[in-house]
Amino acid sequence: MSTASDAVPVPKMADRAADCAERLLAADRVLVASHIDADGLTSAAVAGAALERAGIPHEQTFYKQLDADAIAELAATDYETVLFTDFGSGQLDDIATHEQRGDFVPVVADHHQPADAETEYHLNPLLFGINGARELSGAGAAYVLARALERGDVDNRDLAATAVVGAVGDMQDSDGELQGANAAIVEEGVAAGALAEAKDLAVYGKQTRPLPKLLEYATDTYVPGISNSYTGAVDFLDDLDVDCRGDEREWKRWVDLTDEERQRVASALVQHAVRRGVPARKIDRLVGTTYTLTNEPSGTELRDASEFSTLLNATARYDRADVGLAVCLGDRTGALETARELLRTHRRNLSNGLDWVKEHGVTDAGNVQWFDAGDEIRETIVGIVAGMSMGVDGVARSKPVVAFAEESDEETKVSSRGTGALVRQGLDLSNVMGEAAEAVGGGGGGHDIAAGATIPTGTEEAFVEHANRVVGDQLG
Ligand code: C5P
Ligand code: C5P
Ligand code: ZN
Repeated sequence: MSTASDAVPVPKMADRAADCAERLLAADRVLVASHIDADGLTSAAVAGAALERAGIPHEQTFYKQLDADAIAELAATDYETVLFTDFGSGQLDDIATHEQRGDFVPVVADHHQPADAETEYHLNPLLFGINGARELSGAGAAYVLARALERGDVDNRDLAATAVVGAVGDMQDSDGELQGANAAIVEEGVAAGALAEAKDLAVYGKQTRPLPKLLEYATDTYVPGISNSYTGAVDFLDDLDVDCRGDEREWKRWVDLTDEERQRVASALVQHAVRRGVPARKIDRLVGTTYTLTNEPSGTELRDASEFSTLLNATARYDRADVGLAVCLGDRTGALETARELLRTHRRNLSNGLDWVKEHGVTDAGNVQWFDAGDEIRETIVGIVAGMSMGVDGVARSKPVVAFAEESDEETKVSSRGTGALVRQGLDLSNVMGEAAEAVGGGGGGHDIAAGATIPTGTEEAFVEHANRVVGDQLG
């Protein structure tokens, strides 16, 4: 019998996914290695659930960076099959070396720019003409694999919800909605009853933030008199003909409003923005597609893909990938509580990090602008802060940001972020980070719009010079 789940989500990747699945099904057991961010955790969760349902014993492990030491560590285990998710493509040269030595058989489900090497079981959208920064995330690649791992009456389409959390965590919806292969995954999640999508106010915290906080913190489109102003947001809401408060005058959250009330608040916000002279192009960005995990309780971080992904970053980027993975796999008790505690710290760190950048500013090198946070910003979140900083006072959106943070006494972490407009002009930060890092004895890679590197301490200035030149060539 043919069922809806017989369709493949991403036809171009179907054959390779089937080969990878066959290889995994032939293994006695599998070691799954993944990256420590929201996309990495969700990749691990999707892969883990699919292996579980296929009856393949497996263990999970996480790395901040898949460097030569990490790959050697994996090679030294007695696992014969290693599944890499949300990293691996950029390190294929090292991985292939170990494969040739017979240390392991690698299966790679990733979306990063591949290194110059090949391996048989390599599932990456970039190999099939699909954009790895906008059309498919690591969790999406793992989902394509998960669908190929279905046997008997297993239906893995419910895992689309987790895959979408990964895509949103990697900001693949930054044009307002998910596109391409990601959109195909959304469709499967909707068909499976695990996801819903809707056009809604594009602000962070619709499930959990009280309304004035929701609007105060919504600064992507800056609305004068409301953004960054709690009292401004309160006055705005109290002036509306909508019950924004409950019986005890406590503030409602966005989810507590009816559809009609939401529409009234949203259109009042748009009108307010128009009156305050916000350009139409920015006002458009106030509305976007929201992805809701329909099986999760309303009013929780887990219900909204964006809030869920932040919760996950709050675990994995603080050495607690175990907590985030458990939440992804359904733990709603201890792990969720711990994740919520970690989220409070993460939020505070992001806010302090952004304040630090605002206070210290960036240095303009011509084609790039940069800051060195030393040990003031944790290296695992300096990239998020760099992305948030673009467009704040003193940080232009017309050139990429390069951020440094101390990784250890010997090494410095580099994170870089661009914009969609710069990418359309030719910016490829993956290439910039790779070349500049190599020139100073480090290594790097990533995506056109967001990339990173690790370099020897003391080479920051030389790194900026190289990066500045490469960006100049790309945008020249
Ligand atoms: O390693 P990984 O691929 O998971 O990380 C991707 C990174 O790129 C994320 O930190 C994400 O925030 C960033 N990104 C971005 N803007 C985009 C797409 C991705 O800053 N439009
Ligand atoms: O760490 P950050 O969020 O800045 O990373 C941005 C992107 O660059 C991620 O996709 C990450 O996997 C990639 N990256 C990399 N090599 C590094 C550091 C980051 O490929 N050494
Ligand atoms: Zn990713």
